[in-house]
Amino acid sequence: MSTLTLENVAFAYEKGRKVLQDLNYSFDAGKVYAIVGRSGAGKTTLLSLLSGLTSPTGGKILREGHDLQAEDRATLRSRHVGIIFQSFNLLPHLNARENVELSIRASGKKQRDVKGRALALLASVGLDTALAERRVLKLSGGEQQRVAIARALSIAPEIILADEPTGNLDLTTQDEIMTIFKRLAHEEGKCVILVSHSPDVARMADEVYELAPLRKK
Ligand SMILES: Nc1ncnc2c1ncn2[C@@H]1O[C@H](COP(=O)(O)OP(=O)(O)O)[C@@H](O)[C@H]1O
Ligand SMILES: [Mg+2]
Repeated sequence: MSTLTLENVAFAYEKGRKVLQDLNYSFDAGKVYAIVGRSGAGKTTLLSLLSGLTSPTGGKILREGHDLQAEDRATLRSRHVGIIFQSFNLLPHLNARENVELSIRASGKKQRDVKGRALALLASVGLDTALAERRVLKLSGGEQQRVAIARALSIAPEIILADEPTGNLDLTTQDEIMTIFKRLAHEEGKCVILVSHSPDVARMADEVYELAPLRKK
């Protein structure tokens, strides 16, 4: 059974103006997926459906065979789905470790050694203790992206969603970030779904879905 399955999914912000239509995708554990499409194609909208933040206006999304809409959203977000937003949504005046700690605490699970766990997560994405103690404001784009990944991982999700994860990064950093996503899928069995307009992201993914813009009727 697939981790996530889309059955004829459609979405419209306003009645009669569909942004997404007839999507039949499936996503499995252990793979990196790229959903590509140009600006305005509906990529961010689709991620918000996959995360359960928004409900489709047509069709169904199934997680492990069960309708995502019937699941408790808070549980989904605190246990199963880790999201990396395009703008990271980190707290800029806190340091990297504190950002990850906040998310560990917010998950509601009882945790011992929250600090140690945050540092281990940051180390796993290539941020050492010195960088972990630096305010987000003073980190590079690539480093902030790593903090956002560590934060998403803090809930030990089966599914990782990322919006334009290589958006403003140079080629080398892009490759490094993609290598992290590939390791999470191939070695840790996560289902990684990236949406992007970048051909490089598509090239490095295991499977690619193309989101064509809908023709205006
Ligand atoms: N909150 C919203 N209300 C109405 N229309 C929206 C909203 N968010 C996005 N859209 C429209 O939906 C379409 C898809 O947007 P989006 O999912 O952000 O595309 P992408 O991420 O591929 O650039 C665009 O035409 C956009 O203007
Ligand atoms: Mg977008």
